Amino acid sequence: MSVIKTLQISLKYVVLTIAVIIGAVYYQHIITKSSNNIDVLKKRVFSLSDLSTYDGVQQEKLYLAVLGNVFDVTVGSQHYRKGSSYHYFVGKDGTRALVTGNFKDESNEKDHVLQLSCNEILTILDWRKTYKEKYTYVGVLAGRYYDEKGADTSYMTELKQKVAVCRSEKKAAKLQDQLFPPCNMAWSEEDGSKVWCTKSSGGIVRDWVGVPRQMFTPGQDKPLCVCASLDKINSSQLKEYKHCSKTASECFVKDNNN
Ligand code: HEM
Repeated sequence: MSVIKTLQISLKYVVLTIAVIIGAVYYQHIITKSSNNIDVLKKRVFSLSDLSTYDGVQQEKLYLAVLGNVFDVTVGSQHYRKGSSYHYFVGKDGTRALVTGNFKDESNEKDHVLQLSCNEILTILDWRKTYKEKYTYVGVLAGRYYDEKGADTSYMTELKQKVAVCRSEKKAAKLQDQLFPPCNMAWSEEDGSKVWCTKSSGGIVRDWVGVPRQMFTPGQDKPLCVCASLDKINSSQLKEYKHCSKTASECFVKDNNN
């Protein structure tokens, strides 16, 4: 009798354990499925004709794309609804107008940015960051930046490479500014042009003043006035201003000085 009872109890435990395992597997399945769904929803791939319907009229919501990323901007409808200043951007990818301000561009090139300058491209990235922070990201637009499956196109790969170059150029320029900060400049009829250095000229705050020098950069026809600390005045990129003492922190520049 007690053997049967023990067997019954053991069977109960086995059944219970199996039930717990099945439950856990099922729960995991549900979780995975729903997170996949969220992923799929987030990665919705819009066709241009899909996107164009989100204009606040055909569809109540207002959507726009920046660099192929689609955002729901309905909460900013004061900027984007029909008749408002930035309605141009709605239902399309008009990325280029974010830096050109050409809100009449309906050409196929209105999302083409590779020919823009580094400054412009980085400005566009700042815009995209603003949209990411302020609005809801709803997917990608199939076209220039993403393919029908939502994967990067070769154009996007090229853009990413250009962005990397632009960022490193910007970083190098910043370092150069720390090393040789720009001078202050002023012009008056009486004195002509004056260049001078202070501990904060060029917006670079430092613990030295420096002396004005002309800096020649390859590819630029005119030299730039920079402040050089005394231990760097022999740099081959630099040239003294005529009629100005080697160690003066202020120089008057005649037109034919260069
Ligand atoms: C290249 C030219 C320009 C572009 C591409 C541009 C783009 C934009 C965009 C997209 C927005 C909406 C931002 C958002 O969704 O929060 C905006 C807002 C605004 N823009 Fe412009 N804009 C330009 C020029 C100007 C100019 C010249 C002025 C002023 C004379 C101006 C004044 C404003 C103001 C006041 C807002 C509203 C800011 C807010 O409510 O947060 N914009 N601009």
